[in-house]
Amino acid sequence: MAKLVKVTHKIPENGVKMLKDAGFDVEVFPEAQPMSHADLLKFVKGADALISLLFDKIDSAVLDAAGSQLKIVANYAVGFDNVDLQAASERKIFVTNTPHPTISDAVAEHTFALMNNLARRIDESDRFVRAGKYKGFDPDLMLGESLEGKIVGIVGLGRIGSEVARHASGGFGMKVLYNDIKRNEEFEATYAAKFEEKIEDLLPKADFVTLHVPLLPATQHLMNKDRFKLMKKSAFLINTSRGPVVEEAALVWALQKKLIAGAGLDVYEFEPKIAKELLAKENVILTPHTASATVEAREAMAEVAAANVIAALKGETPENIINHK
Ligand code: DGY
Repeated sequence: MAKLVKVTHKIPENGVKMLKDAGFDVEVFPEAQPMSHADLLKFVKGADALISLLFDKIDSAVLDAAGSQLKIVANYAVGFDNVDLQAASERKIFVTNTPHPTISDAVAEHTFALMNNLARRIDESDRFVRAGKYKGFDPDLMLGESLEGKIVGIVGLGRIGSEVARHASGGFGMKVLYNDIKRNEEFEATYAAKFEEKIEDLLPKADFVTLHVPLLPATQHLMNKDRFKLMKKSAFLINTSRGPVVEEAALVWALQKKLIAGAGLDVYEFEPKIAKELLAKENVILTPHTASATVEAREAMAEVAAANVIAALKGETPENIINHK
């Protein structure tokens, strides 16, 4: 009997085709909305492999509901905070994610879209023009600032953080500071980047602070009131990582106190809910968790997830394991 791959939400056809071509049966949950946890428990039953999305809470109950034949949870995301890695390891189930250069590119480009938008007040200008307020050229109108020569402080130097550095130093002529759990001297030489061992030393220097860490107990509320107090009043915060890395109430407080100049956010602590104070601010740009939403990145994610499933179901070791090896 063909092995069964269950997918909790529609993904690009290229991934589904790879799985079918490999001889597996594929069942894709047909609805656009995420299913409830109770429905997820029913849906996963009998799966040999599960492709999950970031809104699916994959806990021990889900793994047990699938059955002991389940070999892999291939999360269709780079982030994996929705999966209980320990519960999967205890059951000898692989958990994989979807790192790929195309996805890092997409998120880095989105990070720059937010940075540029804030620095040059693009959304604010657009609202101004549409409101019929533009009455002719004025040299003082919507003055912003240049990225060239500014300091970007990258928190988390993984694939995406490194890609942000490449765009920053190569394309925009920015200076790069970074903070990570480990130093990378080769990276420093390539991008003339400077390592800050403590985030407390990076925050007071950066004109743009951009977060690229996974959500872990150690990174939850990484940006809190104490850390906002350390930022320059002229600096912007960008978050394209995971919402709870920023304590949303502390961000609202920092904006109200004018401790920072603004924020560009793609993710939210209580996603999809967003604090009403953020919705009301001119100097905050909000996007709906779409930093990796390019056709190229989504197809790459489908390909990586499918390749991981195919390897696991053939008895091989998938490439992108994030729990046991
Ligand atoms: C990821 O890959 O983790 C993004 O947040 C969703 O595509």
